[in-house]
Amino acid sequence: MLYVIALIIHVISIIIWIGGVSFVTMITFPMIQRGGSSLEQVMMFQGTEHRFGKIAKTMVILAGLSGLYLIKVKGLSFGVWVMIILWGVYASLLFGLEKMIFKKLFDKPSDQIDTKKIFTLLQGFHWIVLTLSFLAVAAGIWAAHY
Ligand code: HEM
Repeated sequence: MLYVIALIIHVISIIIWIGGVSFVTMITFPMIQRGGSSLEQVMMFQGTEHRFGKIAKTMVILAGLSGLYLIKVKGLSFGVWVMIILWGVYASLLFGLEKMIFKKLFDKPSDQIDTKKIFTLLQGFHWIVLTLSFLAVAAGIWAAHY
């Protein structure tokens, strides 16, 4: 019973987390790049990031804790290592690196920020982590059902 509850929490937290990353990558970035002054673009990005950042951090913690319990029941496997490594990438970004990266990118007057270049880079980066996330989802299903 506890195993099924842990798996439900695991999968729902990943749906919200990776679903959010998909939305930001496929919808928010193209909208930011389509219009507005540099300041408006930065404001829209920081507004989205600020709101989703909190949600993503909570879901990453839930996915990790439920995942640890699932390991206790089902043990480790290659698929589980893929999930843990991806989880590690996100956790290090969300709970540390991201703040430093954004400070470096945005900590100057908005008219000196090359927003076109920055948001193209950020969107490219998001497509890479999103693709790796889909791989982790495939690894998780494989670990659970193969
Ligand atoms: C610390 C990080 C994580 C740990 C320890 C972990 C552990 C596990 C374990 C042990 C299972 C297998 C359960 C079983 O055999 O029934 C599982 C299932 C799964 N995990 Fe993870 N996981 C982690 C992170 C992630 C991440 C980052 C993703 C996706 C982005 C993910 C997606 C999935 C999926 C889709 C399943 C399959 C559910 C099913 O079809 O029954 N997990 N996880």
